[in-house]
Amino acid sequence: PRIALIGAPTDVGAGERGASMGPEALRVAGLIEALRAQGAEVLDTGNLTGPPNPCAPPVHGFRHLSEVAAWNRAVHEAVFKALQAGDLPILLGGDHCLAIGSISAVARHVQARGRKLRVLWFDAHADFNTAALTPSGNIHGMPVASLFGDGPPELVSIGGFAPERPALRAQHLRQIGIRSVDAGEKRLVHEAGIEVFDMRFIDEHGIRVAMERALAGVDADTHLHVSLDVDFLDPSIAPGVATTVPGGPTYREAQLCMEMVADTGRLASLDIVEINPAYDTHNNTAELAVDLVESLFGKSTLMRRRSET
Ligand code: ARG
Ligand code: MN
Ligand code: MN
Ligand code: MN
Repeated sequence: PRIALIGAPTDVGAGERGASMGPEALRVAGLIEALRAQGAEVLDTGNLTGPPNPCAPPVHGFRHLSEVAAWNRAVHEAVFKALQAGDLPILLGGDHCLAIGSISAVARHVQARGRKLRVLWFDAHADFNTAALTPSGNIHGMPVASLFGDGPPELVSIGGFAPERPALRAQHLRQIGIRSVDAGEKRLVHEAGIEVFDMRFIDEHGIRVAMERALAGVDADTHLHVSLDVDFLDPSIAPGVATTVPGGPTYREAQLCMEMVADTGRLASLDIVEINPAYDTHNNTAELAVDLVESLFGKSTLMRRRSET
């Protein structure tokens, strides 16, 4: 399919400014050229617009709830439209709160077609906070809970979902690279039954086993969505993020993740979020993200066939 790039230049869900520069950083790093080099047809739809960042303190546990909702409604409509047109949308964030709009659109599209959904959530964080638990009020720490129906109506209802009919359930989600989960958040992740391949799992079993398990059951009828929070990566290779956590995957480990996704041939939508050029050096983090996207879209050193993997 054709790839549709959708820029969402905002940081309303984050605690620091700067992720709003992510879409341009990715374009400057050569994202479009890299995708075309893999033989893809690419349409850059430009950037969405939405409210500015008010830089206000949290209210009832949420910072900037109405602005986050406005941005996510715009993302939802753009991603849904791209999917309905048969395109493969790539959301260029922006902070990770935007996964609410993006993944709700994917879920709506997949449900309407009676297909199966698998979401791979690459992140240092579980992003399963709620207003009652959040240490920060930052909604980029809450998208997974919101997609599971545990969030404010302004966010949970995007795409026509509701707490009893959520966009996402544990069966659809696998989290990889997790190493920072807040105290109350741990219990929620456990109770939700989410399959988490945390850094301890990766240390003990390796990335290959983690990815084999995360991809188990993905078949020809599966819509595979990747939500890549660049703080997934070790800060030594990806300094351009506001919420770095030490002890993340290496360059090679991250590449293997992307290559194993590419091998399935099922990737149908993607988020690239949390790149913060204000923290970066020489746009290296956006360039690294572009390297990973090349692998995600099939770049390999040698001519490999799926049967060889
Ligand atoms: N758990 C922390 C919080 O809720 C950090 C969340 C970071 N999330 C992210 N998408 N970078 O504030
Ligand atoms: Mn994160
Ligand atoms: Mn995240
Ligand atoms: Mn460089």
